[in-house]
Amino acid sequence: MCGIVGAVAKRPIAKLLIDGLKKLEYRGYDSAGVAVIDAHYQLKRLRVAGKVRELESVMHDHLFQGQTGIAHTRWATHGVPSEKNAHPFVSHDEFALVHNGIIENHSVLRDQLQRDGYCFHSDTDTEVVVHLIHKNYKKNQDLLAAVRAAVMELKGAYALGIISKHDPSRLVAVRQGSPLVIGKSQGENFIASDPLALLSVTQQFIYLEDNDMADITLEDIKIFNMDMQEVKREQHTLSISHDAVERGEYRHYMKKEIMEQPEAIASCLEGRVTDDHVLPAIFGPGADAIFSQVEHIQLVACGTSYHAAMVARYWLESLADIPCTVEVASEFRYRKIAPSKNSLFVTLSQSGETADTLAALRLARKMDYLSTLAICNVPGSSMTREADLQFLTRAGVEIGVASTKAFVTQLTALFLFVLALRQKRTADTQLEVELVAQLRRVPALVEKVLQQDAAIVNWARALMNKEHAIFIGRGALYPVAMEGALKMKEISYIHAEGYPSGELKHGPLALVDTNMPVISTVPGGELLEKSLSNLQEVRARGGKLYVLTDQVHLFDQDSFAGAHIIAMPCLHAALAPILYTIPLQLLAYHVAVLKGTDVDQPRNLAKSVTVE
Ligand code: F6R
Repeated sequence: MCGIVGAVAKRPIAKLLIDGLKKLEYRGYDSAGVAVIDAHYQLKRLRVAGKVRELESVMHDHLFQGQTGIAHTRWATHGVPSEKNAHPFVSHDEFALVHNGIIENHSVLRDQLQRDGYCFHSDTDTEVVVHLIHKNYKKNQDLLAAVRAAVMELKGAYALGIISKHDPSRLVAVRQGSPLVIGKSQGENFIASDPLALLSVTQQFIYLEDNDMADITLEDIKIFNMDMQEVKREQHTLSISHDAVERGEYRHYMKKEIMEQPEAIASCLEGRVTDDHVLPAIFGPGADAIFSQVEHIQLVACGTSYHAAMVARYWLESLADIPCTVEVASEFRYRKIAPSKNSLFVTLSQSGETADTLAALRLARKMDYLSTLAICNVPGSSMTREADLQFLTRAGVEIGVASTKAFVTQLTALFLFVLALRQKRTADTQLEVELVAQLRRVPALVEKVLQQDAAIVNWARALMNKEHAIFIGRGALYPVAMEGALKMKEISYIHAEGYPSGELKHGPLALVDTNMPVISTVPGGELLEKSLSNLQEVRARGGKLYVLTDQVHLFDQDSFAGAHIIAMPCLHAALAPILYTIPLQLLAYHVAVLKGTDVDQPRNLAKSVTVE
């Protein structure tokens, strides 16, 4: 995680770097810093513990001027968030460096450098790198060669940005395992962890690949591999508007992103379904042949994306009759795997850069899988570049750390995926015709659910002072309960757990008393009676029931007196996970707002988890 921005320009760039950092704060926000080379070819540096706005408030533009610089917003891994552990790090006031990632062999390197006389001023893994560059520069006075020599000694994952007072109009960047992009403009060039940071200055981007080292000056960008051979990387034009990353009228990005969901789902569907079927070509050239052979699906993801994968398992087995296994990436990558025959490996990721998921994909590519598919929201991200097949969810830029619109578009994409696979397994199109018709209703129905905002605020008032909450659901709504609980913990810091409703009596029911809110999803369908019995189990222990249901009439009876009910629109039961997610997102949001927590940047978290 952590966010990097850098620039080499012919104008003062400190403010521009800070503005870029603000766009990257989703990647980490516990400390921030900036370094520039001033008119006297001296390095100037400013760091604070805290957010970018605190850095901004102590930075006086007129005193902090320079045309080449680097900046950083941190998500602490080694060393507590503090000024001394904030980037950039400097060596002998000659070199400054920012880093995103983890240097695994930092303690060995630190010991060696200390023996060579280097003094350390931080507890981080990063500081070794800048001293290594200094040490190597002394040998032949060449910045690029010094960076290369330093990098050759590193183990781990890193994206680096380096400036030197000896080369005041030069910026060196390195990528190994953590994302880094070059922004290209007229007479000035930039680097950043994410193109979003640079949209105000350019739309032209070059994505670095692992082992790339870029030598960037005002007019020129040269990219080398670690053998110092020049390599060519494609230039991409990004058409995301600057406004897409603004908060607009909303108090928080999360609320904006929740409200954008009807449009996001519609965009995910656009050009991919007709009135009655999923277009077969939407998973790209080659998908058709692969889908015909598939006998098993392996889904791998983290966090919210993992919950989407769990929902997909229910769909794959019930609608397409394809066995499916789902696993969190951090587990998948470190155990011995025996791939099933003709198994398609699928990663789900909003960012396309999550370290564990990316590592799992790389591993799968070396194993005996039929093929790999990345379902992802960010075009050009590592996963979309590395998987054999790609499918973009088109949620638009998601900035709130708690994922919302990315999740519902992942569900939408997965539903299309399941129907596309189903086409290969059965000639019976009747169910597909019905499901596609229902799917096309989803954006309008999500709009309707969003209108329940005021009712959800009332629930939030009742929950805001609780310390615990249980979320329950059955079938494909069990992962939705887990997602609701995750949203609640992430942004409101209330301890919440998601359970399959039928599991309550096997343990968690012991927690239920008159103080325990139990939030449940109860759509009509085959499992309705079972869900109602589970709710009675909760009521009998005095638990407070909060029910989302399209079967409101069933809750008029005395046996549910006191239960809080919100009416949901009716839709085919298979699609209920998409609709029932929305009120759970709103609930977590309103509880967090009432509690006054930092909704968009919850404590200890960051959005794009590019470290293990
Ligand atoms: C929770 C959340 C995280 C991410 C997880 C994976 O709201 O956003 O749990 O879902 O870190 O990230 P991606 O989807 O980018 O791989």
